[in-house]
Amino acid sequence: AVYQTTVSAPVNIACIKYWGKRDTKLILPTNSSLSVTLDQDHLRSTTTSRADPSFDKDRLWLNGKEESIEAGGRLSTCIVELKRLRAAVEAQNSAAPKLSTFPVYIASRNNFPTAAGLASSASGFAALVASLAALYELPATPSQLSVIARQGSGSACRSLFGGFVAWEMGSAPDGSDSLAIEVAPREHWPDIHALICVVSDDKKGTSSTSGMQRTVETSALLQHRIAQVVPARMDAIKDAILRRDFPAFARITMQDSNQFHAVALDTDPPIFYLNDVSRAIIAVITEYNRAAGAIKAAYTYDAGPNAVIYTPKENVKEIVELLLRYFPQSQPFPDPFGLDVNNEGK
Ligand code: DP6
Repeated sequence: AVYQTTVSAPVNIACIKYWGKRDTKLILPTNSSLSVTLDQDHLRSTTTSRADPSFDKDRLWLNGKEESIEAGGRLSTCIVELKRLRAAVEAQNSAAPKLSTFPVYIASRNNFPTAAGLASSASGFAALVASLAALYELPATPSQLSVIARQGSGSACRSLFGGFVAWEMGSAPDGSDSLAIEVAPREHWPDIHALICVVSDDKKGTSSTSGMQRTVETSALLQHRIAQVVPARMDAIKDAILRRDFPAFARITMQDSNQFHAVALDTDPPIFYLNDVSRAIIAVITEYNRAAGAIKAAYTYDAGPNAVIYTPKENVKEIVELLLRYFPQSQPFPDPFGLDVNNEGK
C-alpha cells in the first residue's frame, strides 16, 4: 500500500498582530491575535506527505530544495507530535497500519514567491500539519491541530481555518489552550477583499522570530499594548466582524498595524519594517478615506514593507486605479484582486 496525502493551506493576514512570546519553545504569545485567511488560489502552500517503512529517515523538501530537520527544532516538534497522535490511533485500532513507526518524506511548495514576505511560514506549517494529520487519519479538530501548527510558527495556527480567525493566547503553561478558533466563516462576510501590494520582494531585514524576542526584552510600549490595548481590541474587532461593520473593522485594523510598527520602533535597537513606499501607500489610503468622508479601505503591514489592503468588493477597482496612478510602474498581478505595487524599479 502507498500511504500518501496532499493538502494545501492558505496564507492569513493579521488585523490584530501577534508580536511577542511568553514561551519561545512552545510558542505561546504575549497577546491574542486575529486574522483573515486569504482565499486567493495563488496564495497557498501545498504539502505532500508520504510514509514508507523503507525510507531512511524523516526528510523535507521546501520548494524542491531539501532542508534539514533539526532534532528538537520546530519541524521535528510538529512531526513528533503528529506521530504521537497517530500512535494513539494505532493503540485504539489494532488493524491500523503502524504509520507512526514509518519515516515520512514531506514535500512542500508555495505557489507564491517565498521571499515576497507574505507569511509563507504560516501557510507552510499549516499545510504540513494538515497533510500529516490527513495521512495519519487523525480524529482531530482544526483547533486541536492548531496547537501543533502553533509550535511550527505562531501565525500558522490561524491558517487551519478559513474566514475570520482568532488565536486565543490561553494561560496554561503547557500551551494546551493557546489555539485558533473560528470567529466567522468566510461566507459570513464575502464582501471583504484583500489587495496585496508587493512593495519589495527582498527577504532582508529582521525576522519575526528574532525581532519579537528583542521587542519583548526591550520595549516598554509592548507591555502597555499587551495589558491595556489588545484585549479590548480583540473584543471590538470580533464584534465588528459579527456585525459586518466595515468602518469599525477597518479602523481597528489600521490602528493595530500602526501600533505593531510603533512597538517595533520602540525596540532597542529599533526595527523598521516600513519603507517610503509603504508610508506613501498609508498616505494614499488615508486620503482616499478622508475624501470619501467614510472609511472605505484599511491598510495593514506585517514584518516587512508590503501592504495588504482590506476593502469591500465595490471599492476594489477604484483602489487599484488609484494605486496605479500613484505607482505607475506597478502591475496588477495575477488577478484584479492582487496588486503588485513595485515602485522600487526592480
Ligand atoms: C507580524 O508567526 O512568523 O506577521 O512564531 O516566531 O514563527 P514565529 O513568528 P511568526 O510571526 C508573525 C508576526 C506578524 C503578525 C501576525 O501574523 O500576527
